[in-house]
Amino acid sequence: MKIAVFSDVHGNLDALKAVLADIESQKVDEVICLGDTVGYGANSAECLDLVLEKSDLVLGGNHEWAISEEGNTDDFHDMAAKAVRVAQKQLLEFGTPEQIKNRKAFLRNLKYSCDFNGRHYVHGSPANPIWDYILPSYFESEWDEKHIEGLFKTFDRFCFCGHSHCPCIITNDFACAWPNQQGDEFELHPDGSFLINVGSVGQPRDGDPRACYVILENDTDLAFRRIPYDIESAQKKILETDGLHPFLAARLTEGN
Ligand SMILES: [Fe+2]
Repeated sequence: MKIAVFSDVHGNLDALKAVLADIESQKVDEVICLGDTVGYGANSAECLDLVLEKSDLVLGGNHEWAISEEGNTDDFHDMAAKAVRVAQKQLLEFGTPEQIKNRKAFLRNLKYSCDFNGRHYVHGSPANPIWDYILPSYFESEWDEKHIEGLFKTFDRFCFCGHSHCPCIITNDFACAWPNQQGDEFELHPDGSFLINVGSVGQPRDGDPRACYVILENDTDLAFRRIPYDIESAQKKILETDGLHPFLAARLTEGN
């Protein structure tokens, strides 16, 4: 059994196409998306259409929540709130009637966490599926064993999350590993349980500008896949889109 899990595409169609091509070459049994497919990048509508077509499970993130009827941008900083409005317009006003209908149906039925074929999936964290961040630095500086224990009580062996754009693995014995320091491949102990942040496809923030996603094989072999893509193309489109701040293009160069 081989599964691919990705998150936080954020309207970056160039990165998404590169990742989907890599997933195709990996011959996986399941494809899972953990949300924030829209916002920040220039191609939110195309990304959502493609993700819905290619994935077995698609969660929503805080950017989809903000576009949905119950959502708002009150807690978004100005640059993100403006990007949400750009994405909202693209999703609801551009494309064929069928595409717009599919996007609206998706936005009406958003799920932010889900059990699927024995594994748990969430956008943010089990403590707060939409907003909470799982970050390596958080676990270095504010290590709170009670909090971590609580997170691990919410799932069996695997919980996959996104949202922070920083890939890492946290184990039930309170260790945290991140691929920047320890390489991209991990053998997972059959008796352990694991909280895995899959990083971001469209806006990595761990200092590596390549798109990031994970492959899990036989519930033991975990690989963070880093995929180069045409960053300049994604940046050019952001700079040409009204309402998107130039910093959203600039940050893709360094991946932070
Ligand atoms: Fe998010």
